Amino acid sequence: MTTFQGFVPILVLLGLVLTSVLVHAQNDQSGFISIDCGIVEGSSYTDNVTNINYVSDADFIDSGEIHTTLPIYDSFRIDTQLTTLRSFPQNTRNCYTLKPTQGKGNRYLIRARFMYGNYDFKGQLPEFDVYLGPDYWDTIRFNSSSEPITMEIIHVLSSDYTHVCLVNTGRGTPFVSAIELRLLVGDMYNQTSFGSLYLFRRLRFGIASGTVIRYKADKYDRLWSPFDWPDTTSLYTSDEVDTRNMFDPPSEVMSNAITPKYSNVSLEIDLDPGNTTVDAMLSLRSTYKLTKNWQGDPCAPQDFVWDGVGCIYNDTEFPRIVLLNLSANGLNGGIDSGLARLTMIQTLDLSNNNLTGYVPDFLSGLNFLKDLNLKGNNFAGPIPSGLLEKANKGSLLLSFDGESTGDPASPCDRNNCKNKKDNKIIVPLIAVASTVFVILIALVVVWKIKKTKEHGRGLETRKKKYTYSEVQNITNNFNVVLGKGAFGTVYHGKIGDTQVAVKMLSKSSLQGDKEFQAEANLLLSVHHTNLTSLVGYCNDESHKGIIYEYMANGNLETHLLDTSSSVLNWEKRLQIGCDAAHGLEYLHHGCRPPIVHRDVKCNNILLNEAFQAKLADFGLSKAFPTEGVTHISTEVAGTPGYLDPEYYASYRLTEKSDVYSFGVVLLVIITGQPAITKYDNDNIPINRLVNLKLALGDINNIVDPNLQGNFDANSAWKTVELAMACVADTPSKRPTMKEVVIELNDCLVTERAREKTKSNNLTGLMSLNLEIAHHPTPV
Ligand SMILES: *[C@@H]1O[C@H](CO)[C@@H](O)[C@H](O)[C@H]1NC(C)=O
Ligand SMILES: *[C@@H]1O[C@H](CO)[C@@H](O)[C@H](O)[C@H]1NC(C)=O
Ligand SMILES: *[C@@H]1O[C@H](CO)[C@@H](O)[C@H](O)[C@H]1NC(C)=O
Ligand SMILES: *[C@@H]1O[C@H](CO)[C@@H](O)[C@H](O)[C@H]1NC(C)=O
Ligand SMILES: *[C@@H]1O[C@H](CO)[C@@H](O)[C@H](O)[C@H]1NC(C)=O
Ligand SMILES: *[C@@H]1O[C@H](CO)[C@@H](O)[C@H](O)[C@H]1NC(C)=O
Ligand SMILES: *[C@@H]1O[C@H](CO)[C@@H](O)[C@H](O)[C@H]1NC(C)=O
Ligand SMILES: *[C@@H]1O[C@H](CO)[C@@H](O)[C@H](O)[C@H]1NC(C)=O
Repeated sequence: MTTFQGFVPILVLLGLVLTSVLVHAQNDQSGFISIDCGIVEGSSYTDNVTNINYVSDADFIDSGEIHTTLPIYDSFRIDTQLTTLRSFPQNTRNCYTLKPTQGKGNRYLIRARFMYGNYDFKGQLPEFDVYLGPDYWDTIRFNSSSEPITMEIIHVLSSDYTHVCLVNTGRGTPFVSAIELRLLVGDMYNQTSFGSLYLFRRLRFGIASGTVIRYKADKYDRLWSPFDWPDTTSLYTSDEVDTRNMFDPPSEVMSNAITPKYSNVSLEIDLDPGNTTVDAMLSLRSTYKLTKNWQGDPCAPQDFVWDGVGCIYNDTEFPRIVLLNLSANGLNGGIDSGLARLTMIQTLDLSNNNLTGYVPDFLSGLNFLKDLNLKGNNFAGPIPSGLLEKANKGSLLLSFDGESTGDPASPCDRNNCKNKKDNKIIVPLIAVASTVFVILIALVVVWKIKKTKEHGRGLETRKKKYTYSEVQNITNNFNVVLGKGAFGTVYHGKIGDTQVAVKMLSKSSLQGDKEFQAEANLLLSVHHTNLTSLVGYCNDESHKGIIYEYMANGNLETHLLDTSSSVLNWEKRLQIGCDAAHGLEYLHHGCRPPIVHRDVKCNNILLNEAFQAKLADFGLSKAFPTEGVTHISTEVAGTPGYLDPEYYASYRLTEKSDVYSFGVVLLVIITGQPAITKYDNDNIPINRLVNLKLALGDINNIVDPNLQGNFDANSAWKTVELAMACVADTPSKRPTMKEVVIELNDCLVTERAREKTKSNNLTGLMSLNLEIAHHPTPV
């Protein structure tokens, strides 16, 4: 059996295929990595059922212990690979490194299998998380010692390797029985050009029970489980089946099919995998194209609850969402039916969006809803009577605009609207009575996770040109100065209720004028959640200004170096680093032509009220003519300490100059020291200082002492290594920002796993602290 943690299926393949020639599957395992975890180091064997060659996992991981499931479970084991396993009692996070020879850019199916089989004689089913590189994949929860769990993902590798990581979340020792990687070819599953496809279910119809079909019948070694559909008749053809389509299903699967037993019914496939909260939230995100930082679990870890989400935590249950604030998120279209699944929701704020259509009835079915705000939208039709009743009874605080009226002329009648949103797909069955033509149905349901790659949206409508007198108004006649930069002063302002930052170009600086213009043009074309966004601009003849979103928490440098501000913990530092890295990665890899920032520094990393970081100040940026061609710049710009020495020496400007500066930013984040720092009465660059300290091999000697050792040492080491790789003298040895993002996410995940374990062990820690308090500290 395969578990599915319930996610939104987005793709249904209905293959209607006609009979013809069979393409023979070959015994070619060159695109396979097949690992049987826990067998004797260095050993290998060929599975006598599938003919797949399995190798020991010792070459893929350094940590862990090997074990064997108890013999009493032998009869439950369908596959030899589930006999042995590797468990990880040490370290929070343990990763297998997979390096397929075909390398990056290819699409792979990656599968991990788990069977507990009471290998540790404890009889306790562990629960743990699995990550693919830095990204959360799934949580393993066993039903029993004998039932194996198989998880599968289709993923495009962005580097030549990937990690499958097992993370201890304080609920038992992680382990794994088998890991398999299969190269997919050509356009197969090419929906995954950005993200990953998580397997929801892969079924074969027409066979009620029996073995799972896999290699060699399926040359990609996908697992096809039989599925018993009541009230259907099985169809079968002994002819060979041409299965040539972009999913390349095996002929053996396609030669069976089902048709309804009665001609008066149709086959309805319900793709709703259940009512998890996560589902509802991801459905919302995709419906409204939200660019919020919504990844992983909305409610966990508790310190990193999703933006605009409120949760209740109850030790006996999963956390539940009780508040959802999507106010002023630029939502379009109708109210998403996914909201119906937030059954515990108490407060729902949808105000000030551009929502249209009818207010749906299901909202009145949300029994705990106490506060519903629908104001500031363009709904049609009356408010459902159920909601009005609740409001009249006083059990619901309901806010809506008075002008909502019935619209009998609407072409979209209420029931039609509802049906369109139903998560069901009616499969029309065509019965063709012929021995030659048989209609075959295969169903593949996959679920797509959008990765963090985000494209700015919704700014277009707000972008605006302002006159100088309007800018005077906005800034209350340039009353409050937020800061002064190389080519202008930044003022605080307000447009309506929204706070903004207004940068006015100083008239004296001619060079600044040019750069200012470049910045305005760039900001107009570049949008990303980790780049400060443009609210508007002023382009009067003698006054030029840019209006940015206001970043309530100022710049990163202040938070790191100013002794009066509170200490940012390690996790926040990494999160800020990740945010900034994402912004820079977008400039380098998401823009055509790529953009080099040229002045990456802590001062240019701004923080909003939620401490989300955004890169600011593109004044020195210049778009590249073409990718890969280095640009010879006419003058050296940038900030001492952050400036790539190679760039300084050669005037050759590449993305790698930004990577260098970003490395310095990381070192400042790690050490809490400025980019140029004091050492033995000398002023030396931070990377030299860290290099000196690295020789001593003590991470506590490198990391900001203000953190008081409160960080995961592995995470810190990895961050230091990454930062030092970024500041390598030779640009070609520096990683790309894509790689930096991946590595830095890894560091963050490690730290978060520690935080999670820590909070789970809180009771233990508290009693420990009490004990310590009873003893006087030795001097
Ligand atoms: C666990 O049991 C539930 C309920 O019987 C079932 O729906 C689910 O598929 C099972 N999970 C696994 C991994 O077998
Ligand atoms: C495969 O090998 C195992 C043990 O080596 C044996 O018990 C099993 O019967 C074999 N299966 C087949 C189909 O040959
Ligand atoms: C996927 O492949 C098909 C068939 O070659 C092609 O028509 C389609 O445009 C591709 N889609 C993407 C997103 O690349
Ligand atoms: C379809 O027809 C069968 C037998 O003719 C009957 O028992 C069943 O009630 C019908 N179902 C529907 C949905 O009309
Ligand atoms: C899903 O939600 C619906 C409506 O709230 C409820 O009737 C149904 O029992 C739920 N299903 C599961 C599996 O929880
Ligand atoms: C947690 O949930 C259980 C079951 O729903 C309930 O009985 C209990 O009161 C809840 N505890 C808290 C602290 O809310
Ligand atoms: C939702 O967020 C907006 C803007 O951040 C705020 O004004 C509003 O009060 C919030 N609503 C609730 C119910 O918290
Ligand atoms: C709101 O939606 C309507 C209808 O789709 C559209 O005409 C209008 O321009 C939208 N307004 C905004 C501010 O997006």
